[in-house]
Amino acid sequence: MLSKRMEKAINEQINAEIFSAYLYYAMTSYFESMTLNGFAHWLRIQALEELTHAQKFVSYLNDRGARVHLSALEGPDNEWDSPLAAFEAVYEHEQKVTGLINKLMELAQQESDFATVNFLQWFIGEQVEEEAAADEMVQKLKLVDKTEGGLFLLDQEVNNRSFVLMPELTGLF
Ligand code: FEO
Repeated sequence: MLSKRMEKAINEQINAEIFSAYLYYAMTSYFESMTLNGFAHWLRIQALEELTHAQKFVSYLNDRGARVHLSALEGPDNEWDSPLAAFEAVYEHEQKVTGLINKLMELAQQESDFATVNFLQWFIGEQVEEEAAADEMVQKLKLVDKTEGGLFLLDQEVNNRSFVLMPELTGLF
């Protein structure tokens, strides 16, 4: 049985994951407004991934006999100064999410809730990938800087990203 404190903390994390999707959808529209459809595509897939993260927490609460309580979402930013500024915001946001996951892990360890410690291991690894992917985009955007040709080519490159549903969620989507 999950403690009430852990149930509340995981519900807050569900809000944070859905907020991440909301933020990345806002960025999708920002890039579409500039006809940078490859970056928009990358972020649309990122938003979908965030929803699968939320679903993973929802399924965990259900498996442990706890309740899901959804709460109001904060409004995301909708404008950024440049493509680089937008991806710097992605990287910063992912670092914040890593901090939230680490706090959840600390709580699970304090409570000797080994099932939750085990469950959270996946998110610890996932955040390494999330930060690396965002940082890669920042570094590439810095390389192309403001050259329109470079931005155009990078936009085409990131248009190849595909969405892969994690096997344990097959059947839910
Ligand atoms: Fe769900 Fe991008 O962290």
